[in-house]
Amino acid sequence: MSGLDFPIALRLQDRAVLLVGAGKIATGRLAQLLEAGAKVHVVAPEVSPEIVRLAAEGKVRLSQRGFEPSDCEGAWVIFSATDQPEVTQQVVAEARRRGVLVNAADLPGLCDFYVPSFGRRGPVTVAVSTAGLAPGLSRTLKDRALDAVGPEWGKLARLLGRLRRITPPGPARTKALSAIVDGGAAQLLARGDRPLLWKRIRAVWPRSGIVYLVGAGPGDPGLLTLRGAELLGRADAVVYDRLIHPEILARARKGARLVFVGKEGGGEQTSQDEINAVLIAQARLGRRVVRLKGGDPFVFGRGGEEAIALSEAGIAFEVVPGVSSGIAAPAAAGIPVTHRAVASSVTFATGHRAEDNPNWKHLAGAQTLVLFMAGRKLAEATAALVRQGKSARTPAAIVEAGTWEGQRVIEGTLGEIAELAAAAQVGSPALLVVGEVVRLRAQLTALAQQASARSGAGR
Ligand SMILES: C[S@@+](CC[C@H](N)C(=O)[O-])C[C@H]1O[C@@H](n2cnc3c(N)ncnc32)[C@H](O)[C@@H]1O
Repeated sequence: MSGLDFPIALRLQDRAVLLVGAGKIATGRLAQLLEAGAKVHVVAPEVSPEIVRLAAEGKVRLSQRGFEPSDCEGAWVIFSATDQPEVTQQVVAEARRRGVLVNAADLPGLCDFYVPSFGRRGPVTVAVSTAGLAPGLSRTLKDRALDAVGPEWGKLARLLGRLRRITPPGPARTKALSAIVDGGAAQLLARGDRPLLWKRIRAVWPRSGIVYLVGAGPGDPGLLTLRGAELLGRADAVVYDRLIHPEILARARKGARLVFVGKEGGGEQTSQDEINAVLIAQARLGRRVVRLKGGDPFVFGRGGEEAIALSEAGIAFEVVPGVSSGIAAPAAAGIPVTHRAVASSVTFATGHRAEDNPNWKHLAGAQTLVLFMAGRKLAEATAALVRQGKSARTPAAIVEAGTWEGQRVIEGTLGEIAELAAAAQVGSPALLVVGEVVRLRAQLTALAQQASARSGAGR
């Protein structure tokens, strides 16, 4: 024998298949092809009532006539199952001419492929082929093999398929899948002992953690989102920055590891690479990690960089937006960042690092400008804005520790605000608001106080 058969399992769903013949063999083949989801065209001058019924129901296309070479047009695979060898030879010749694989029932010498004898247990197919030599023997061997494969193996195949889909490929997954099969999973399914089966699966399955990039809000613990609070309550590890209110940290699950990656006093700032490495390492231990970031993770928070690093490491992550201090701190100070007829746009910017390279000309044109991390370079920033044409008389305010218990607001004009801030020894965190909206502060804080006095709030 030159060359052994090469078994494959064809996916025929929605594929065009030509079946020439409508006798007993063809009818059996048709049932198998329909089960596989193929779109079958049956060509035969005489057909069984079963095939006529299937055609009437639209389940097959029927051409009740002799074979014509054009029947092969568009066919993905061809079966000839007629009792007329000359017709089969014609079908095979046409299939070859078109380069389409063909099977000729009972004429193994003309076949490009054989159909093994097969049976199914759910998605498991047990197939035996004897190279077209002895179909009866194939059937006997297939029956014997099927006897050894109970329906539980089909259930197991489905279960393993689901587990594979939810876990990234790799040696750990392969090892765990083998351990499940070798650990008697099919026998447990046969006995219906699913609790023990799942216990065993949990024991061997590679634990893959997840990182939640959670915005903690501007400071006030009441401004943490419900989702953020829920995740903290379930966290295995919390990786947090400076400027996270202790009451927010106190919401972390009892026993969760708290990992500080901010800058304490004059200490060193943890580098972004180091923070990424901590997140990846914690998640690789199978932990549910909450990465708590001030405000919103994607507003000057490097949350995007962390998300990219996690995804490159193949670690699942979810972003939980937070209340950004860019909106919340001005609001808490009585400054709406937009207000009808005063400002219909707001620009958020930072001028902290050299690489931020602020476009001062553009920023000078902003209706409301909120400048983050303004502290150290405040004098430079305000001077640059005035140089670029912003009036030095434009109202401006510094909001320090907005929404925190010790919130302070320094109000003045753009020309004087840096000096006022220096005199008041403004620290961090603070942001600068520049624009006509700052004028609304006096009115809005007065109104808020009157309303609160009327309602008796705080009593
Ligand atoms: C690294 S940025 C992070 C911003 C944060 N992702 C957000 O959306 O609020 C830190 C800067 O935000 C501003 N900031 C944060 N919290 C603040 C607060 N409570 N009051 C005033 N400014 C705040 C300060 O300008 C601070 O230097």
